[in-house]
Amino acid sequence: MNDSLLFFKKFFRHGTKIASIAPSSPWLSRATVRNVDWANAKVVVELGAGTGPITKVIAEKVRPETRVIVLERDPDFCVLLKERYSPIPNFEVIEGDVRDLATMLRDRGISQVDYIVSGLPIPSFPKDLQRDFFAVVRDILAPTGEFSQITELALVYKGLYKKYFDQVKFVFEPRNFPPAGAYHCKGIKVPG
Ligand SMILES: C[S@@+](CC[C@H](N)C(=O)[O-])C[C@H]1O[C@@H](n2cnc3c(N)ncnc32)[C@H](O)[C@@H]1O
Repeated sequence: MNDSLLFFKKFFRHGTKIASIAPSSPWLSRATVRNVDWANAKVVVELGAGTGPITKVIAEKVRPETRVIVLERDPDFCVLLKERYSPIPNFEVIEGDVRDLATMLRDRGISQVDYIVSGLPIPSFPKDLQRDFFAVVRDILAPTGEFSQITELALVYKGLYKKYFDQVKFVFEPRNFPPAGAYHCKGIKVPG
């Protein structure tokens, strides 16, 4: 089945758990990873990969030495992601919930991540999960690292990310359907 059709079916069935009617376009996918320093990144983590449009851009740009962890909860999306990206030696696709992110990384001996790229529907997470999630991000993100997040409602949710980061920049991508963009966040400030 075509990626867009599968994605739409999932959205129709699961609504806010998928949170978009279509996969990110190539333009939005590129905008989301545009700040990644590919030459120096040691570990890149993608969360909520869906059918993998951002994963595709990562695969095109990343060095073979960089470890890439791709997390997705939906089993059907994971079948696609594993078919396409597990054969790449430095990629690992994990089927699981972001609630378990800290354990998943610890089990793999990963204590620091340079870039976190997220398609997760964070605004629709319960407040306790949002808090716990950003506490994990605080613990693992390198001091020079960046958290990037796709969004279709830039102004509505900017406050949420500003609560957790000193610096939040938004890049708009009108060619996406629907028009969308990415927040690029630095300097996490979740209290310890
Ligand atoms: C808006 S879609 C983004 C998909 C893809 N990154 C893109 O840009 O097209 C959100 C994705 O996050 C996944 N997701 C939602 N909640 C999750 C969770 N708690 N843990 C892991 N993945 C989750 C959904 O299954 C869905 O694939």
